[in-house]
Amino acid sequence: MELSPEMFKRFLPLPVTVITTMDVQGVPNAAPYSCVMPILRPLPLIAIASALPRDTLRNIRSTGEFVVNVMGRPAFREAMKCAREYPPEVNELEEAGLETLPSKRVGPPRVRAAVGWIEATLDREVTDERYALIIGRVVCSEMNDLYVRNEKLTELPITLVMPHFRALGESVARRDEIEADITPMQR
Ligand SMILES: Cc1cc2nc3c(=O)[nH]c(=O)nc-3n(C[C@H](O)[C@H](O)[C@H](O)COP(=O)(O)O)c2cc1C
Repeated sequence: MELSPEMFKRFLPLPVTVITTMDVQGVPNAAPYSCVMPILRPLPLIAIASALPRDTLRNIRSTGEFVVNVMGRPAFREAMKCAREYPPEVNELEEAGLETLPSKRVGPPRVRAAVGWIEATLDREVTDERYALIIGRVVCSEMNDLYVRNEKLTELPITLVMPHFRALGESVARRDEIEADITPMQR
């Protein structure tokens, strides 16, 4: 059964991350990103797909550094507030009420409540007039000890099943909760 891209995308669940960056003045920026994937395993490189324009992209280009904060349920709502349009000089982390921690190997901060963090430096960029694919070299990857007990995670990363990125209330689901009904593509 052929499906439209709009319908099919529900079957490719994505992670929920917040990308933190800093501008050249050192002002932090944060934005939810779900088009994030490892380039092979075990994670020497990570790719993020960005629409244009984005403050996140401008900061990565000018400083060469970013952090992928992998989100679980804690602070999920606050993280989503970072998707609002703020002027570039506004610290979105403060506006959203997200506490931060210093990163270990890059300048941009970590989101304290994240389940885990991937610190990366810009390796290369593939650009077209509609998007940019950022490929980062992973320089540090760490799970948040707040959520590790007896070598098990007490909070899991959440997965986004999204009709639209902005339809957030109903968009968090486990893979087995994805609705089974599908509409075939009209010919
Ligand atoms: C759950 C979620 C996932 C998102 N994923 C992406 C993404 O992968 N790529 C992208 O360009 N924008 C994505 N967005 C939209 C950006 O977060 C949003 O446009 C944000 O305001 C960009 O901020 P910036 O200009 O500070 O970088 C997503 C939004 C939400 C709510």
